[in-house]
Amino acid sequence: MAISPQFLDEIRNHVTLSEIIGRKVKLTRAGREYKGCCPFHHEKTPSFTVNDDKGFYHCFGCGAHGDVIKFIIEHENLPFIDAVKVLAAEAGLQMPEFNPQEAKKAKKQKDLYELMDEAADFFERYLFDPRNRDALSYITDRGFSIETIKTFRLGFSPEDGQELRKYLEGKGYTSKDMIEAGVLKPSTRGTEPYAFFRGRVMFPVIDRRNRVVAFGGRILPEHIRPPTRSDFEPPKYINSSETALFRKGHMLYGEPQARRAAADGQTVLVVEGYMDVIACAQAGINGALAPMGTALTSEQILALWKMIPSDESVPVLCFDGDNAGKRAAQRVAENILPLLEPGKSVSFAFLPEGEDPDSLVQKNGAAALKRFLDRPTSLIEFIWQNQMQGRDFKTPESRAGVVKALNNTIDKIANRDVQVHYRTLLKQKISETFFPPRQSGFYDKDRQKSKFSSLKPPRPPSTQINTIAPKVILAAMINHPHIFERAEEYFVNMAMPHPDYEHLKSTIIMNLNENPDMSRDKLLESLKNSGFSQEIGDILNESVYVHASFSSPRANEEEVAEKFLAYVNDANEAELEREIKGRWKKAYLDSSEEEETKLRHLISMKTAEGY
Ligand code: UTP
Ligand code: MN
Repeated sequence: MAISPQFLDEIRNHVTLSEIIGRKVKLTRAGREYKGCCPFHHEKTPSFTVNDDKGFYHCFGCGAHGDVIKFIIEHENLPFIDAVKVLAAEAGLQMPEFNPQEAKKAKKQKDLYELMDEAADFFERYLFDPRNRDALSYITDRGFSIETIKTFRLGFSPEDGQELRKYLEGKGYTSKDMIEAGVLKPSTRGTEPYAFFRGRVMFPVIDRRNRVVAFGGRILPEHIRPPTRSDFEPPKYINSSETALFRKGHMLYGEPQARRAAADGQTVLVVEGYMDVIACAQAGINGALAPMGTALTSEQILALWKMIPSDESVPVLCFDGDNAGKRAAQRVAENILPLLEPGKSVSFAFLPEGEDPDSLVQKNGAAALKRFLDRPTSLIEFIWQNQMQGRDFKTPESRAGVVKALNNTIDKIANRDVQVHYRTLLKQKISETFFPPRQSGFYDKDRQKSKFSSLKPPRPPSTQINTIAPKVILAAMINHPHIFERAEEYFVNMAMPHPDYEHLKSTIIMNLNENPDMSRDKLLESLKNSGFSQEIGDILNESVYVHASFSSPRANEEEVAEKFLAYVNDANEAELEREIKGRWKKAYLDSSEEEETKLRHLISMKTAEGY
């Protein structure tokens, strides 16, 4: 059974080499490649490399080398046809039935590629024809060098709709082939088919294997070539329609050089048009690609991610900074949410109003564009800003509205892991914006400041701290140092609401650790010598003792330890309760993951204490 090269290509495109090999061999990433111990010879240090971009593996030890199909043949010891079947199943592809038609179709496709190449050649030469000096100088006047024109194979198409046909017929192609390739249109008036592109600057669309698959064509401005018809204004650009070679929504303009740039670690960026891609490349920004007259499709986004070899694939999407640009960005963002995966995202660069990368680079140089590319807006920031911009959120309804809109957005993320992190981060931002952090008692640690603080209302006054319990506990310990041995663990872990009290507590612990038999008087003297006179005055007095008689020096020594432990328990419990109550409210209001974690921790502390 003969299998077409197209089908083998389709297999190669549908499976990831490192994934297939990674199941048999432990691979670790090394730059753009993977490394591992060669499965084809015995070795201890890895000399086997896998390159997904090239679709090849290579062993520097034994020289084993091949693509995914060869790998399965060699590693599984399968005949070619069975290896193809295994991989077709893996890729979810239907094995082609062998028939002579298939073979003919493959041959046909090959012919069409050649036809397109000849057409591109023809347009290129026609641009440099002395008759079309105006077209060439239009391009060079826009700042494009001859070298750039050659690199991108720019051309010009004759006004006369028959010239291309005659040329290609001379090369042995039929009108039928030319129509199939999209360079000719059948005539509706029964005359000869005629050229689809006429009198336009030609941009060949070249695929990653350097094959011409389609064309875009731009009219020359009126002052250079006045329009032939006054009743009809032609579109500025036209693009080939879909053909056997060209799936518009799957391809991007500029792939060959952008792929190379991506492999070199340069930024991959998406711009709007042909001119932008070329201007970027001429300025040394080689990672630019453009969709062809349509909004970015899912397939194009997946292709972009595949193109970037690093663990973090985040192409920058450029938009005009005006409202239309923002709206276009919003539509793209919506479409990307279901596709997001760990490590895969997009970011946004908004250029000054009315500028495209071409105009920016031509006027102000590459650095002017790079400034925007170097600090793009992340997808999550963009989503957040979209919701927040131009609104004040004074009413609860408007706040709830934002939360709802954000939740709807997050729901569109299909990947669970990514979704969880979006939810957490956005909840955190909501919480920071609408419920700024408070200072509170026993368990709170300093919180980090948010960088999304522009809409933050002023802080509310800090909550009332329960100061009696710590005083009772300190008083009891100072007045009855002998309980330290039994109560040490509780005492040490008791949080103090004030740094001076915390300091006093540690000084008491230090003293009693050094001398467990220390008397009340000796301890008092030592604490006063350490500078705690004022605190001691605050603590050792009747206003504290009334809350808990065991803390008074007059208490029955026999009972102090028991009562102290019971009190500490109650105090902790009460504090915990208060804290949990506060947290419940906060967690309920902003339901941030951070809050939920703290709450769960507090509740588990309660449970642990047998409550
Ligand atoms: P623009 O109108 O922004 O063109 O269209 P541009 O790239 O800035 O070109 P210049 O600078 O005027 O020469 C951007 C892209 O939108 C598609 C083309 O792919 C174009 O590159 N387009 C635009 C069309 O398909 N048809 C049109 O009529 C216009
Ligand atoms: Mn432009």
